[in-house]
Amino acid sequence: MTMTRDEMLGWLRETDPARLAALFERADRVRHESVGDAIHLRGLLEVSSYCVQRCAYCGISAANRSARRMRMSADEILAAARSAVDYGYGTVVMQGGEDYGIKAEWMAAIVREIKDEIGLAVTLSLGERPESDLVMWRAAGADRYLLRFETSDPALYRLIHPALPGGFKDRVSQIRRLQALGYEAGSGVMVGIPGQSWESLVDDIMTFADLDLDMIGVGPFIPHPETPIGRYLADGTGDVAFPPLPPDEQVPGTAETAFKVIALTRIMCPDANIPSTTAIATLNRAAGRRQGLMCGANVVMPNLTPAKYRECYEIYPDKATLVETAGVCARDLRESFEAMGRTIGTGAGGRRHRGTIG
Ligand code: 5AD
Repeated sequence: MTMTRDEMLGWLRETDPARLAALFERADRVRHESVGDAIHLRGLLEVSSYCVQRCAYCGISAANRSARRMRMSADEILAAARSAVDYGYGTVVMQGGEDYGIKAEWMAAIVREIKDEIGLAVTLSLGERPESDLVMWRAAGADRYLLRFETSDPALYRLIHPALPGGFKDRVSQIRRLQALGYEAGSGVMVGIPGQSWESLVDDIMTFADLDLDMIGVGPFIPHPETPIGRYLADGTGDVAFPPLPPDEQVPGTAETAFKVIALTRIMCPDANIPSTTAIATLNRAAGRRQGLMCGANVVMPNLTPAKYRECYEIYPDKATLVETAGVCARDLRESFEAMGRTIGTGAGGRRHRGTIG
C-alpha cells in the first residue's frame, strides 16, 4: 500500500488535474479506513510572540525589530482554555516563539490546571527548550509536543535556521527525545522554501515515516517582507545565499504542493493526525481548509487567541485567522464539515494505536 521514492517523486511532479484527483481520492480513502471520518478540533493559543531564534523565514524572528511582541497572562490562557471546552474542542495547543520569559515552572502550573481542572488534552509548541523544561512539562501532564523540522535537507536547514551561540541542534534528534519522554510527537515541514527541491520533499515524507510521528503538519511557505528570505525574494537583498535551483527542481509554495504532500503523507503514515493548516487556508480562504480535509487531513486547529494579540503573531503576512473570531470560526467549521459528510471528533483525539490518552 505504500510507495517507492520514485512513485512519490512522480506524484509530486504531477500536474494533470485528473491524475491528481485520483491521488487525492486514494489518500482520502486511506484516511477514512485508518482514522475514520471524525475531524478533530484543537484550540490554538498563540501564547507568546517573543523569540530568541533568528529563522530566516519567520516574521517573529528576534531579528525582526518591527514585530510587535506579546505574552498572554496565565489568566488569559486559562480563560481561553475554558472557552475551548465550551466550543467542544478536546485539546488546547499552546504555541509560541522560543521565549525564555515563559518560565518552565509558570508553564507547568498552567499545564497542570488545564489538565486537572479544565480537562483538556494539552499540546505544547514552544520551540527547542532545554530537556529539563520538557521533563517538567511532561510531568505536569502535557500530552503532546510539536516541533517541525522544516526541511530534511541539512544544508538548507542551516541556511534558514541559523544556530544560536550554544551551537547547532538537530531537530530530528530533538523529536526523538520528545518521544522518549513520552510525548506524542508532532513535526512537519514548509513547502516552497527557496532552494527546496522535489527530491528533498520526498526525503521529508520518508523522515515522517521513519520517525513514526503522531502528528504531521505541512503548509506552504509564505514570504514575510521583514525577513531575510522575504527580502531575497522581493529584490535579491537579504543576507541569505540560496543555492539557485533550476525552475523545474524548485518546489513552488502553493496550496497544491501542500495537498500533494498531505496526500502522500497520509498514504505513507496512515494513522497519523494530519492538520489542514492555517497557511493553506491563508492562500485559499474560500476552500483551502476543506480541500486539505479531502486529500488526507483529519485535524483543524481553530485559533482561540484573544483578538487583541493576533496581529502580533505574524509568522507570515495576512494569516487566515487574523480576523476570524473564535466563535464564528467554530460555527463555520462545524457547518462546513457536516456538509462534507464528516463528523466532529469528540474527546482528546490522540493517535489511536497508542491509546494512552482520551
Ligand atoms: N510561511 C509559512 N509557514 C511558516 N512558519 C513560520 N514562518 C512561516 C512562513 N513565513 C511555520 C514553521 C513553524 C510553524 C509554527 O510555522 O513551519 O514551525
